[in-house]
Amino acid sequence: MQAVWPAGREACLVEGARTRQVAALLNHRAKEAEHARLLGCAVKRFGGRFIYSHWSFTAFCLCRRVLGVRFELQVLLLTELVSTAYYRVLCAHSPDQPLADMCRLILRDEAGHVAFHRERLADAGRSSLGLYGALWQAQFWMLGHAAAAMLWVNHGPCLTAIGGTRSEYFGEVRRQLGRFIMALDRLSEPFIERANDSSFASPIAGKNSLKMPGIKRA
Ligand SMILES: [Fe+2]
Repeated sequence: MQAVWPAGREACLVEGARTRQVAALLNHRAKEAEHARLLGCAVKRFGGRFIYSHWSFTAFCLCRRVLGVRFELQVLLLTELVSTAYYRVLCAHSPDQPLADMCRLILRDEAGHVAFHRERLADAGRSSLGLYGALWQAQFWMLGHAAAAMLWVNHGPCLTAIGGTRSEYFGEVRRQLGRFIMALDRLSEPFIERANDSSFASPIAGKNSLKMPGIKRA
């Protein structure tokens, strides 16, 4: 099967994809602000104390900024994944219905954020396939566990207080990381195959931005 894509059409599609990504990122910020508000309500509900700075947050911001945009986006993704694991365990053990409802609401939003990152990475041709993919996957798992450990150090006691366990939390972290990589591979595979076919190769990065008719996304 051959396809002819005028250069102008490719540029429009890529530009459109970038605009959608920027819009999605702005939407994420709004959702994260809402999550912060909800968590603030939870702190008040349980008579907790507000904190306005923490070493882990400072380290998180420093790390993600010093090492560039790509690394920052990966840190944001890993934060979404380990947070998902945390809220799932919190929801499962919550003795308080409004708290469980809040977790479900946050989990629903986080699923959308994770899907955004999956599409963004597939769009850039990222997968765990091949040697480079295996190396990428190894660093993804390693940094994912580092992010999970940091979350556990700071917030693990909240889970253990209501019956959650360390192994349950880290098991859920592994499940989220593994599911993400499998879904990314499923999404990337058709585009990698197409990229290997020179008749579909594009001079512009962003294979999913140049979706061919008939290619179904996972
Ligand atoms: Fe999020």
